[in-house]
Amino acid sequence: MVNKMEALKKAYDETSYQLSGHAPRNVKVLKQAFQDIDEETQADIYGTGSAINDFEEKMAGFLGKEKAVFFPSGTMAQQIALRIWCDEKASAKVAYHPLSHLEIHEEDGLKKLHGIKTVLLTDKDSVIQLDDVKAMDPDVSCVLLELPQREIGGQLPDFETLQAISGYCRENDIRLHLDGARILEALPFYGKSIEEVCRLFDSVYLSMYKGIGGIAGAILAGDAGFIKSSKVWKKRHGGDLISLYPYIFSADYYFELRKDRMANYFESAKGLAAQYNSCKGITTLPAVPVSNMFHVHINKPKEETAEILAEVQQDSEVGLSGYVRAIDSANCYFEVSLGDAYPNVPQEKVDLAFRLLDEKMKA
Ligand SMILES: Cc1ncc(COP(=O)(O)O)c(C=O)c1O
Repeated sequence: MVNKMEALKKAYDETSYQLSGHAPRNVKVLKQAFQDIDEETQADIYGTGSAINDFEEKMAGFLGKEKAVFFPSGTMAQQIALRIWCDEKASAKVAYHPLSHLEIHEEDGLKKLHGIKTVLLTDKDSVIQLDDVKAMDPDVSCVLLELPQREIGGQLPDFETLQAISGYCRENDIRLHLDGARILEALPFYGKSIEEVCRLFDSVYLSMYKGIGGIAGAILAGDAGFIKSSKVWKKRHGGDLISLYPYIFSADYYFELRKDRMANYFESAKGLAAQYNSCKGITTLPAVPVSNMFHVHINKPKEETAEILAEVQQDSEVGLSGYVRAIDSANCYFEVSLGDAYPNVPQEKVDLAFRLLDEKMKA
């Protein structure tokens, strides 16, 4: 017998429309990106050649930094960034949020590969504030801020807090690194340009496959000395693949396609969160999204919720989620992140899905 989680995944996969994301992650994503690329275009070779260097230069300019380097993954890029800042200060200690990607999703790479100790700022349900940074061990080489903070529904500190943390770090010889996997998605809330945000940080990482929706890859940007060291570490980590152009050309294609759509995704997120919040026993975190993402919290156990979601999806043809995660024995959640898919869902289908969801939650 198929269990409830598998049945939920199957129901989601069989829907005609999905509320989250851009489109299925299939080979078409790569083919579309390459449709206008000249077949004679030269590949990059071990980090050199215009296929990689032109994009790095373009992204450095976009982020308002001196230099940038393309990495196969954000995991590799950020561990390296933090290692460089620790070496500079000769103190192997960094500080970040307890639910940082580095702390919970990277098998302790920072600690095991680099011997770096981590200081956890604030409690797991809050965003980092200036007082958290002021209260930390002054030996810290670098503070990492993840904007938006994914594991708590994409919450953000206000811009004044960012400015204050940046000022404090500069005065106290502490580097500030931006885990900006989804930073473009946060700009409409801040009402700031990407340069205005990046100016507050010594180093910046941007993912090529979150809101941008490329295949994979990351940009790390900073001053020339920092990027020179990053390239050495990239080689040490085996990140200098002989050619990265499939990732780079697709990153560039989807960057151009989507970089100016983030305000639309943000508006969609606010509208969709309001629909979830109108259902009995459902709330979103945050209540009003501050980016294109939010978490949906359901006041029912995981198994029961999976059954409800599977039925709603079958009856409405609208995909809400393919999974749920338990918070405790009585509550569960899933993540929603808005992209190109949502505007293609007919409004009457969305309304039907939420009517059914509300009815089943009340039953
Ligand atoms: C906030 C954040 N930082 C870093 C990463 C790591 O990115 P990558 O998957 O490219 O290693 C992710 C990936 O999900 C992320 O969400």
